[in-house]
Amino acid sequence: MLTTLAIANYRSLRNLILPLGPMNVITGPNGSGKSSVYRALRLLAQTAQGRIIPALAQEGGLQSTLWAGPETISRSMRQGIHAIQGTRRKEPVNLRLGFASDTLGYLIDLGLPSNNRSAFSFDPEIKGEHIWAGPFLRRAAQLVVREGAAVRAKGESGWNVLTQHLASFDSMLTQLADPHNAPEMLQLREKVRSWRFYDHFRTDADAPARLPQIGTHTPVLSDSGHDLAAAMQTIMEIGDADALSDAVADAFPGASIEVACSEGRFEVLMHQHGLLRPLRAAELSDGTLRYLLWIAALLSPRPPELLVLNEPETSLHPDLLPALGRLITSAAARSQVIVVSHASRLIAALSEHEEYREFRLEKEFGETNLQDMNELEMPSWHWASR
Ligand SMILES: Nc1ncnc2c1ncn2[C@@H]1O[C@H](COP(=O)(O)OP(=O)(O)OP(=O)(O)O)[C@@H](O)[C@H]1O
Ligand SMILES: [Mg+2]
Repeated sequence: MLTTLAIANYRSLRNLILPLGPMNVITGPNGSGKSSVYRALRLLAQTAQGRIIPALAQEGGLQSTLWAGPETISRSMRQGIHAIQGTRRKEPVNLRLGFASDTLGYLIDLGLPSNNRSAFSFDPEIKGEHIWAGPFLRRAAQLVVREGAAVRAKGESGWNVLTQHLASFDSMLTQLADPHNAPEMLQLREKVRSWRFYDHFRTDADAPARLPQIGTHTPVLSDSGHDLAAAMQTIMEIGDADALSDAVADAFPGASIEVACSEGRFEVLMHQHGLLRPLRAAELSDGTLRYLLWIAALLSPRPPELLVLNEPETSLHPDLLPALGRLITSAAARSQVIVVSHASRLIAALSEHEEYREFRLEKEFGETNLQDMNELEMPSWHWASR
């Protein structure tokens, strides 16, 4: 389980440390930084897939994603005596992401390139990466350290140099994780790769989820939702078929789901109260289809360690939200869950969970802060110095 998530200098998240529990909700007004937390977590996951640099480029590059405010906001700026203005930088420009779990912790430090003669001078560089054991980075608990191009791992009789030549655009997680020299790196990479993210499912008229598709065993719904019917059938055959029919009936009283299969193509059919024939996925309303996608995602027979959901309430009627909340709560028995949401009825349903934690974000001077969070409750966290 993740115990801490830490983000520095990513958009409005200048320095955000979240002490996570089994069931977490991130909420706050528009523009407070909720989606940025979701995206920061996804960037961490992309690091383990070797895609952090292209993923940052897709967001407009490091220049756009870096905190756009001053390095420090002085008291006189806060009091309005002086205008917000930049000061001479004391620290190098850096975007830093990290997490601690009940076993290993990881952090990555990205900065601007040192060699601007290259045509890729907009590519950020990975300046440092650290893996440690325990709740936060401490020298004694370090397991793997990357400084620039050099990576070393702690062995039984001291530190072993794994390489001196790691490219600035490669993460050590994808290049050096091997079972002999750095088993903890491999373990951590596989852990991060298993995190599962769901953002807005498409449900428009041409959405892939509306079309019959060739079906294969699908224990994990794809994030496009195109394999909805196959995922439903997989739950019925090797997963919790009763939970599936209960979830459908909980949201749509009297309704049930069937998966039709003709010539290998699978299609979801929904029997509804009062209709003489079932409706095909192409005929369902946006909200109904989206809800079925959530059911397939959340009842996966292969639950991930961490499930991250971005605004699952989108385009659902508020009356459906308590049922969605129950569905997410049942998923939290199998996975750690982080939900980004500003739907009060969904949040109210999730808050019934006994280990519920709510993080209310607010923006002050352009910077995202945690509301009502006592300094004492904050977990310890150390960023490595460069
Ligand atoms: N480079 C940057 N530096 C500082 N702030 C930024 C930067 N880029 C974006 N922002 C601000 O970060 C904020 C975070 O936006 P985000 O999309 O995370 O908000 P949100 O809480 O998801 O809002 P909504 O409820 O509208 O979806 C926005 O207000 C945006 O103006
Ligand atoms: Mg948002």
